Amino acid sequence: MIRVFVNGFGTIGKRVAFAVKKQDDLELVGVAKKKPDFKAYIANKFGIPLYVLNEDQIEEFENHGIKVNGVLGEALENADIIVDAAPKGVGAKNKELYLKFGKRAIFQGGESHDIVEVSFTAQANYRQALGKRFVRVVSCNTTAMARVLSELRKIANIRRVRGILVRRAADPWETKKGPIDAIVPSFKIPSHHAPDVKTVLGDLNIITLAVVVPTTRMHLHILNVEFDTRVDVDSVIDVLESAPRILIVPTRLGLDSTATIIELARDLGRERNDWYEVLVFSDGIRVHDNERWIEDAVHQEAVVGRENSEAIRGRVKIYEDGGRSIEKTDRSLGILRRL
Ligand SMILES: NC(=O)c1ccc[n+]([C@@H]2O[C@H](COP(=O)([O-])OP(=O)(O)OC[C@H]3O[C@@H](n4cnc5c(N)ncnc54)[C@H](OP(=O)(O)O)[C@@H]3O)[C@@H](O)[C@H]2O)c1
Repeated sequence: MIRVFVNGFGTIGKRVAFAVKKQDDLELVGVAKKKPDFKAYIANKFGIPLYVLNEDQIEEFENHGIKVNGVLGEALENADIIVDAAPKGVGAKNKELYLKFGKRAIFQGGESHDIVEVSFTAQANYRQALGKRFVRVVSCNTTAMARVLSELRKIANIRRVRGILVRRAADPWETKKGPIDAIVPSFKIPSHHAPDVKTVLGDLNIITLAVVVPTTRMHLHILNVEFDTRVDVDSVIDVLESAPRILIVPTRLGLDSTATIIELARDLGRERNDWYEVLVFSDGIRVHDNERWIEDAVHQEAVVGRENSEAIRGRVKIYEDGGRSIEKTDRSLGILRRL
């Protein structure tokens, strides 16, 4: 058993912790929280050992009726691997602590590539990250693009990619973020996503542009992919359909928006209505002249949670082959291969 501690129990940390609990080769040592809010209550409710960042916080948590198991340092001692799911930028500071305790750690997409040895997406570069001490699971947008593009590369060499990312404004529980009535363009070309994809896929001619829209459900990606040779729609469908963690969504069933896709997750009774898979709209795969267009939806809260299981196993080389780890995680969590 690999003993895992999750430092930070918010949108991502919660999902990582609950996924770890379901793996028979991983043991959850506990999670850390800063505030005694409903997420701390959830940890107590589901019997997840809860740690605070320092001694001073214990009384505050207990005054809120939250049971605390100890302070961060004690938990770090007992773990083999830390999954850092603290807010953007905090992970870089926490790295000092992991070095001090002599631990391996996995960081999330809000951290910079510079603080790790490898930036990671399980189906794209599992082997490259094998055994490395510090690895970063890239952001939700980057993970989705790395999954789709690493599969498309199997058909033919990609000459160039141009991507428009329509990003959600906030996660559903975040009441202080916006916009609530505006579409906010970003004037930076490329947006930070294109260089981030290259940290996983290496050399690739990719440029991305990003806008933020007032929704909390999902991101939408519009990718224009040009191959070296002519590639038909069926080849694109075949390769994406046989790939793990990518689903082709039948738009003919009315699944033609992020709203209906989330409604489907509810109807299927998926945990937290989560989509771990990248959802490619069937009618969004098109050929126009020599260009291939792909439109997909990405559930920002959920898509990277499972990547962390592979990142954990890869650190201690439980599996040399990423495919076996992906299969194990996906079986335990009910990830779909086809709708
Ligand atoms: N949300 C997304 O859509 C998304 C998608 C992909 C990747 N990411 C990345 O994942 C990381 C985490 O994001 P998130 O959205 O999960 O953030 P979040 O919901 O704000 O959760 C952050 C968690 O870290 C805790 N925390 C705060 N300060 C800490 C510290 N000094 N040490 C340890 N933990 C601390 C917070 O505690 P309290 O709750 O007590 O404040 C909270 O539980 C970021 O790098 C982000 O860029 C986010």
